[in-house]
Amino acid sequence: MTERIRFDSVSKEYPSRQRRETVSALSGIDLSMRSGEIFTLIGPSGAGKSTLLRMINGLEKPTSGSVLVDGIEVQKLPKGELRTLRHRIGMVFQQFNLWNSRTVYGNIAAPLKIAGWKEDRIAPRVAELLDFVGLGDKAFAHPKQLSGGQKQRVGIARAIAGRPDILLADEVTSALDPQTTKEVVQLLKSVNREFGITIVAVTHEMDVVAHLADRVAILSKGELVEIGELERVFSRPDHPITGSLVGSYARTALTAEEQGAIRMESDARFISIRVESAVVDSPVISRIARAHSVDFTFVQGGVAHVKGQPYGQISLALYGEDAAVDAFLEDLTGYAEIAEW
Ligand SMILES: Nc1ncnc2c1ncn2[C@@H]1O[C@H](COP(=O)(O)OP(=O)(O)OP(=O)(O)O)[C@@H](O)[C@H]1O
Ligand SMILES: [Mg+2]
Repeated sequence: MTERIRFDSVSKEYPSRQRRETVSALSGIDLSMRSGEIFTLIGPSGAGKSTLLRMINGLEKPTSGSVLVDGIEVQKLPKGELRTLRHRIGMVFQQFNLWNSRTVYGNIAAPLKIAGWKEDRIAPRVAELLDFVGLGDKAFAHPKQLSGGQKQRVGIARAIAGRPDILLADEVTSALDPQTTKEVVQLLKSVNREFGITIVAVTHEMDVVAHLADRVAILSKGELVEIGELERVFSRPDHPITGSLVGSYARTALTAEEQGAIRMESDARFISIRVESAVVDSPVISRIARAHSVDFTFVQGGVAHVKGQPYGQISLALYGEDAAVDAFLEDLTGYAEIAEW
């Protein structure tokens, strides 16, 4: 895949209220987003996610470093060319940002008019978009007559109306209920798969990341702490902050201290198992345990599903004769990565 967006040593400082010092929103960011991928940015509040996103279409300028879209440095573009670039980059927001005085049709048609589309091309394009987002019967409704999910569908239709190459999405499901969130995530996936639009999405909802992302980047206090393919980041996070963010999704491993405290309280032997389909799709753990007369309880852990694949980790306390537990472990090693602790 070719590179579409690149951040080269990007830092951003905002003047603080007191004007005496500055707030560092981003520091030394190097990363690139590939053409056609869905890239999600996660991180705690204030980490700099929106700042990073808004640099892609020039709404924010780096204090140092550069942001390139298709090799062109955004912050150096003269006004006219920046406007042209923005026609190629759609944006969707948490609060929808629709014009309340205009109809759904008017909202979607507006950017096309601004981009200089002729009226006779606009009407069929808006009809096609309304169909695509499932609002074929709402052309003449006003935003206040729509649900949150419907408003966001209009926001998405408006953002892709001019056939952009890139779609920026900042917390676009945060104001929606879980069912509507799922529908909007599916719609974003269709936008990506059907039109090949590169999507950069900021979200704090791990469920959204798990169902949407191809790759994930984690920002913390203005720094990029981790980046990788969704499956790898969720199943084997490198950085403790990533672990704490995705941990609630499928509980991350116990710390050595926690393990020590648990061991103190019990005569059992303990193992952690890396969950993969081999140990979840059939009852191998219980079969092997039965074969060796070993009993077990669950100590900690969880199983989640990303792109249909189970992942996670579980810790078990094992009860039985030492030789039996040894035999159990030896058999189970053939099915899963296990570690005794
Ligand atoms: N216009 C601004 N002026 C001054 N400081 C700003 C401005 N915009 C952002 N900041 C500061 O920069 C830092 C990063 O902000 P940003 O909005 O990018 O974070 P975020 O990760 O999007 O957070 P959230 O999850 O809460 O939306 C924060 O400390 C914020 O207060
Ligand atoms: Mg933000």
